[in-house]
This record gives sequence, C-alpha cells and structure tokens, in this order.
Amino acid sequence: MAYDKNLPFNEIPDLPPPDFQESREILRQLAKASRYLGELNGLCASLPDPQLLINTIILQESKDSSAIENIVTTQDELYKATTDEGTATDAAKEVLSYREALYAGLEKMQGQKNLLLTNTMVEIVQTVKQNNSGIRNTPGTVLKNAINGEVIYTPPCCEDVLREKLAALEKFINDPEASPLDPLIKMAFIHYQFEAIHPFADGNGRTGRIINALYLVQQELLSQPVLHLSSYIVKYKTEYYQQLRGVTEKNNWHDWIMYMLTALVETAQLSTKKIRNMLSLKEETEKKMKQSLGSSFSYDLLHLMFTLPYLKIELFEKKEIAHRQTASTWLKKLTEADILKPQKIGRTTYFINYRLMELLTTN
Ligand SMILES: Nc1ncnc2c1ncn2[C@@H]1O[C@H](COP(=O)(O)OP(=O)(O)OP(=O)(O)O)[C@@H](O)[C@H]1O
Ligand SMILES: [Mg+2]
Repeated sequence: MAYDKNLPFNEIPDLPPPDFQESREILRQLAKASRYLGELNGLCASLPDPQLLINTIILQESKDSSAIENIVTTQDELYKATTDEGTATDAAKEVLSYREALYAGLEKMQGQKNLLLTNTMVEIVQTVKQNNSGIRNTPGTVLKNAINGEVIYTPPCCEDVLREKLAALEKFINDPEASPLDPLIKMAFIHYQFEAIHPFADGNGRTGRIINALYLVQQELLSQPVLHLSSYIVKYKTEYYQQLRGVTEKNNWHDWIMYMLTALVETAQLSTKKIRNMLSLKEETEKKMKQSLGSSFSYDLLHLMFTLPYLKIELFEKKEIAHRQTASTWLKKLTEADILKPQKIGRTTYFINYRLMELLTTN
C-alpha cells in the first residue's frame, strides 16, 4: 500500500533499512564525527572535576532541545532558576525537568545492564513532562504544520502496534548482532525510528534527543552524556523536519544521516571549545580569587561559582560552605575585584559569575 500521510503509518519498516549502503560522503563525515567526538570524550576524561563543566554542557543541551519545542529561556533566566527553582519561569522549569530526565534515563539504563529499553523511554518522557504519560492508547495524534494546519505525518496507532514497533527498536538498539553498522549511523537510524513511531502524545522530540545521548554512552563513545546536538538542530530546524520527512516519503536515509553526522561534527567541536574556554576561565578566576581573598580563598567557593553562576548569600549556609558573615565578606571582595557582578532582581541580590555567563552565551 502506498504511503499516505493522513493515515497512521503502521507499516514503518523495522531497522535497519535493507538496502542501505554508506556512500563515500557519509564515510568521510563519519570519520570526522568519530574524531571530534573522541576528542571531546578524551577532554572530558582528563578534566580535574569533570562533572562540573559537563553539567553545564548538559544544561545548554536541555535549553536548546527545549527551544526546538518553542520552550524558550534566556541564559539568565535559566541560571537564576538553577539557584532559585521556586521563582523559575515555566520555561526554565521545563528545561530543568529535561536535564533531570536525561540523568534519570541514564540511571535507569545503567541500572538495567546498560540496556536502553521501552521503560527507559517512558521514564524519560514522564520526567520531561512531569506527569504519568505512557504509550499512546488512543488515536488522534497527528503532526501538523503549525502555520496552516496541514497534516505532515500521522504516526502509527495504537498501543499494541506501538509496543511492537518499540520492541523491534529495542532489539536494534541493544543487540549488537542486529546490525554491523557504525554506532553513529545507528544513532541516526534510531532517532528517525523513534520519532516516526512517536509513541507518546507529547514530548517525543525531546525524549528522542535524550535517547541519542544515552545511546552514545551505552556504545561507550562517550563516558558522559555530553552531547549538545540540539544547538545544531535549533539552528537548522526546518531542515531537521524536512529530513525526517524525506526518510518517510522518499526513503532518503542518505541526507538524514548526513544531517545527523554534520550535527555531531559541529557540536562536538563546539563543546570541546566551550569546555576548554571554561577550564581556562576557571584557572584564571582561581588566580584572581587568591589575590583578592588571600588566605580565605576556598575551592568550595570556586566550585560553587562554576556550578551556580547566580550566587546568593543564602546558598552558602544551605550548601554548608560558609556562615553568612564569611560569605558576605567573600562576595564583597569578589565584587570589588570585578570577579562577580551584583544584580538585584526582586528582593534578592545575586552575585553573578558574569564571565562564565558571557562565555555560555557566545558560540
Ligand atoms: N515528519 C516527521 N516525521 C517524524 N517525526 C517528526 C516529523 N516532524 C517532526 N518530527 C519529530 O517530532 C518532534 C515533535 O514531537 P512532540 O511535540 O511530541 O515532541 P516535543 O518534545 O514535545 O517537541 P519538540 O521535539 O518540538 O521539542 C520533533 O521534534 C521531531 O523530532
Ligand atoms: Mg510537543
């Protein structure tokens, strides 16, 4: 039967596509992507305090992946929210839920012999959406053009069919015998397949992008899910949608894979550069802090400034780093030394590690 975008696509073929051949163009881009990813992973492994800077990249990914869904926050809003979740905007809260979902998914996967299963996907979507979403069991989910309402794609339906498709996808993800292809090419296959199955009523895009990062960890290409793929997807969003469509409508795997490999090439390089810049900023800040604080310099303080670039005095007691009086002296001296910039928002004065904020905002 011919494909009809208005009918549930219950005939999505299982992976891998039987006639797929890597072109020379793909192999070239694959080599590049592997190299840059390896460089990023090596850098992460050599960091003195890996979690610190990696967490920042993951928060940036959470921000950009949410932005694809038009959940838009500024860096300032977001980092203020990491300090003060209570006052966060709805968008900032969703971004924080995204990050939580990534870590929850990772933990679930690692707790199940490193298998990325349907229940991992459900855990992710529930954490992203902060609700009890499950596999769709009613018809009606359709992807439409947001401007003219035209149907773009109708995913399969319903729960039984979806579970069957997901079971086949699980096998492809977790069974190394399922296909001898390179994991980066498999990642592109898996992302398309997951989006085409579209198992949930909402949150499929975000869940699918989290799966990409987890898959690279599972495949040991990354030791941490430090993938900032969405910074590329946000930039080339129309093409992202077009290429997904191209696979469904024209079996055009080539262009889809090139798109994903190029996203990997660009974003792995970008993350490497950002981590290097953060590392030198941290070293430079440490030097300046030692000059300004003398014997009261504290590594906990430095660490805090790079974990939560929006500081406030209450944090120091909450995190058991220092008493209010010490914290207040620190903040005053660091402000005088132009290391932090104070800013009053509402009734709270934040002390901002503004150089870190500048670094995060520029690409
Ligand atoms: N033609 C298509 N075929 C299959 N999947 C598609 C197609 N167009 C878009 N998608 C996927 O569907 C996602 C949107 O689905 P959904 O709204 O459930 O996810 P979301 O996480 O809420 O949103 P978003 O992905 O936009 O952030 C897109 O991000 C993309 O990954
Ligand atoms: Mg949505």
